[in-house]
Parts: sequence; C-alpha cells; structure tokens
Amino acid sequence: MKHVEQYTRGYFMPPRQSLKWTQKEYITEAPTWCSVDLRDGNQALIVPMNLEEKLEYFQMLVDIGFKEIEVGFPAASETEFVFLRTLIEQNLIPDDVTIQVLTQSREHIIRKTFESLKGAKRAIVHLYNSTSLAQREQVFRKSKQEIIDIAVTGAKLFLECASETEGNFQFQYSPESFTGTEIEFALEICNEVLEVWKPAADNKVIINLPATVSMSMPHVYASQIEYMSENLKYRDNVVLSLHPHNDRGTGVADAELGVLAGGQRVEGTLFGNGERTGNVDIITLALNMFSHGVDPKLNFENLPDLLKKYERLTKMRVGERHPYAGELVFTAFSGSHQDAIAKGMKWREEQNPPYWSVPYLPIDPHHIGREYEGDIIRINSQSGKGGIGYVLQHKYGLDLPAAMRESVGYRVKDVSDKLQKELQPDEIFTIFKESFVNVNEPIEFVRYQFEKSDDYQTTVIIRVNGEQKEIVGNGNGRLDAISNALQKHLGLSFTNLTYQEHALEIGSSAQAISYIGMTGDDGKTHWGAGIDVDIMTSSVKALFCAVNNMSRRSS
Ligand code: KIV
Ligand code: ZN
Repeated sequence: MKHVEQYTRGYFMPPRQSLKWTQKEYITEAPTWCSVDLRDGNQALIVPMNLEEKLEYFQMLVDIGFKEIEVGFPAASETEFVFLRTLIEQNLIPDDVTIQVLTQSREHIIRKTFESLKGAKRAIVHLYNSTSLAQREQVFRKSKQEIIDIAVTGAKLFLECASETEGNFQFQYSPESFTGTEIEFALEICNEVLEVWKPAADNKVIINLPATVSMSMPHVYASQIEYMSENLKYRDNVVLSLHPHNDRGTGVADAELGVLAGGQRVEGTLFGNGERTGNVDIITLALNMFSHGVDPKLNFENLPDLLKKYERLTKMRVGERHPYAGELVFTAFSGSHQDAIAKGMKWREEQNPPYWSVPYLPIDPHHIGREYEGDIIRINSQSGKGGIGYVLQHKYGLDLPAAMRESVGYRVKDVSDKLQKELQPDEIFTIFKESFVNVNEPIEFVRYQFEKSDDYQTTVIIRVNGEQKEIVGNGNGRLDAISNALQKHLGLSFTNLTYQEHALEIGSSAQAISYIGMTGDDGKTHWGAGIDVDIMTSSVKALFCAVNNMSRRSS
C-alpha cells in the first residue's frame, strides 16, 4: 500500500520483561468489573441517552451484577450532573454498588465533581490527564515535569475536596493515552500520584491503564501491564485496572492478557460500545471465562432480552457476528457443521456428559437464553441432511430414517437454491409434506380390504387419471400383498422395501407416520411417508407415496 512509510510503531516496550504471564493458561478468577457504559459508552453515541434512558440503563447494569459503575463526567455536562444527583437523591444506588465519576485535573472541574457527589454513600473519583508523547508534544506542548505537575496538583486537590465533602471516596488515577506513553514515564507519573494519595490497606487506590488508542499487539500491552504491576509503589494497596479500547480489534485479547499480567480490574462496556471501534466488550470477556468453567460473576443468562434493551436505549446495533450475542453466532448453515451439531446433541442426550463439548458450539446457547430452534440450525442451499433432519425432528417430531434424510435434504436444498433464500422451518415442513407425505398423483389410493387364508389377499381400490380401478394381490404380510398388487397391475417393479414408523402428535389427535423407501429399476431409492390415525393405513399411504415419487421421477 502507498503511504506505508508514514507509519511506525508508536508504543513503548518496557525495558525489562519478565513475561511470567505467558506461563499462565487462563483467567482463574473474575476481575472486578467496572462498567463505563454511562460515561465512555454514552459519550460515543450518536444521540446520547437522556435522563430516563440512563436511569433504565443504570438499573440494567445493577441487575447484571456490576458492583462498580462509572456514571459520568458530572462537571462537564448538565445531563450527567442531573443524572448523578437523581441517583443519589432518589436513593437508586444499591448499598453494594459503588458509582464512579470522572474528572480532568483542573481545579474548578474537580471542585464541581466533589460537589456533585454530596450525599453519595460511596464513590470512586477518577482523575485523569493525558501523558503520551504525541499529546504532550502536540496538544499540551508541555514537558514531562509539567504533565506530572498537572497530575500531582489534581491529586492534592482530591485530598482537600474529599476531606471537605461528606461521603466515602476511593481515588482512581488514569494516565490517559497510556499506550502511547514512554513506559518509564507512565510509571513515574503514577508513582508521583501514589505518593500524594499514600494508599493503605483500608484505602486502596485504583491505577487505571487505558489503551485509550490500542497501538500494539496484545502481548505488548500485557508486557506494559506486567511492568507497571511489578514496579508501582504501594503495590499491595493498589488495584491495577485495565481500560482497553478496540482500535486494532484486540480489545478482548488486550484485557485477557492484561489480566494474566497483573490487571485486577477491567473497565469496559456492554457489547463494546465506546469511542471509535469501542471499549472492550465485557460480555465477551465474561462469557469467555464462563466457557472455561470460571464464574464471571455477572449474569448474562438472558442475553437476547439484554441485547434488545441495549439497542433500544443506545440506538446502536449489535452485528450478526458479534461474539455470543450476534444473531448468527450459534448458527450453522453448512451441511457438515449441521450434521456434527445434530450428532453432538444426540450424543449429549444419550450420554448426559458433565461437560459441554458439542462441536462448533463454544457454549450451550440455552445458558445465555438463546434457543436451539432457529438459532443453531438454519437452512439454505449450503445445508445438508443432518440439519434438515434436525429441524424436522426437533420442531415437528419427525424422526426420518437416516437414508430418507438424504433425499429430503436434496429436495429442500434444491428449493433454497432456486429461490436463493434461507428457508424457515415451516417452509421446510411444507416442502416435506408436499414432496414426501401422502402424495397421491398419479396413482391415488382410495381404500383396501384384506382376506386372510394361507397368506394375505388384498383388494385395493385406486384411481388413475380419474378412473377408479380395483387391483388384487397377495403376500406374506398385508403391506407385501398391496405392494405385489401394485407391481403386478401397474407393471412396476421395486425391491428392498425399507419401513419405519412412529407415533406423531399433531394438535390434539394422535396419528402415526410411516416412512417407506424402495429401490426402483433405476437403482435409486425413492421415499414416501404416510400419515393416518391408523398405522396400517399410514403405511399403505407411505407405499403409494413412494410409488408415486418413483413414477414421477422416471416420467
Ligand atoms: O480511554 C481512556 O483513556 C479513557 C480515560 C478517561 C480513562 O476513557
Ligand atoms: Zn476510554
């Protein structure tokens, strides 16, 4: 590509890396989650939420189980100020939930922020200033020392304001644009702030290291986190927090590796809403942990409803391929995948194993409130017999013989291919009924009767081209007798009759369905099914249906 020479790696690898985190395999315990939906997320919306919407969103976050929720930048906007005051004055913050508010390191903003917190039982007050080389040079045009002074001055004012304001406050500092900051300078500024706040066991400070813009591969961010974790002062009394954005599409990987490297807390949003490509998606992080058998301590048991509410309140859309939540993420269209899923589900029913291991499905969709039907197997021209059989079985109770699934599969795929569209379960059922059930053209079955002597003798009334005929035959069994009558009088020949039947509940009436396959002169197997309240009649209808399908094919 042209212009590539204009790009270079703008991040700073730590001088020493112990890389201990690379030896860890997975996250064994949920970090402290902090939702920044109502601040970072909200500031990125095309239409920011109004007061009512924010209140509803806040309640949704509480219901999910967030214990720390950043509610805004109260000194920067009147709506955010009013929102915070409403939460406090209407006593809407549960006792086990801590709200968080953000402030720049400017005197009047810090003072107004503390003012807005009056009466809050508990709050995290979050101080930030930008520290990256690019911001220092281009935006602030200040030296490193001047940037440290901004942070330290703000930190001191925090102590003063907190002592004058009724309430219980925890402090948080973010070197904004951390990922573009020389790592030793990031460490220096954080340690200077810690020196002011002097965290203690009963008064821990949060140091939040944002990938304000993600600039590197995830292992670099993790190495930066590890370096900070190993070199921060007062480390035992510091909660190390991560705040990845998703510019490189690696927000989740950044957070996961960052936690392995020492991060104890993660700030992010639902569905990854946030500036540009978004903040890290906490739902994906949590469900990734869940899929490893680790309780994320957040409840996403009804993700579809949560998604609807999120889309209504934010007016954003969650894409079809969005991990765990997207419409298509548990769906298999391809035949071989459908077949493996259908077999995996059957194996699961038979074996009742303790662990989830169905191929192609990282978790059981039911565990997050999704349906199997319509979610897992959907049918188009790429689909196969396994998936089509699965839909007919699970939605309509039709347990087709394995070999018949193939014929039905070809027919359904053919329709989908011609129509160039996905087929819904009821369309598949209709194709099945029209092509394989009680088909009575060109030979219509009217009725039969039997007499039994040494073998079975039958008289069958049929209609061909509107003309009624009586045909007779005999055989070892009733079906055999009818099949012989058909072959003899119509000049047909077929062999290898395959037969299967089962009860069928349609509405309130119990019926039987029979499936018959037969090999014709062409060497191919032709299938038919018959439905009737009487089992014998259902099998005769299936026989006629298979014969009709055979003649239609050969004509
Ligand atoms: O992305 C960011 O750097 C922020 C800070 C204010 C923490 O949102
Ligand atoms: Zn952010």
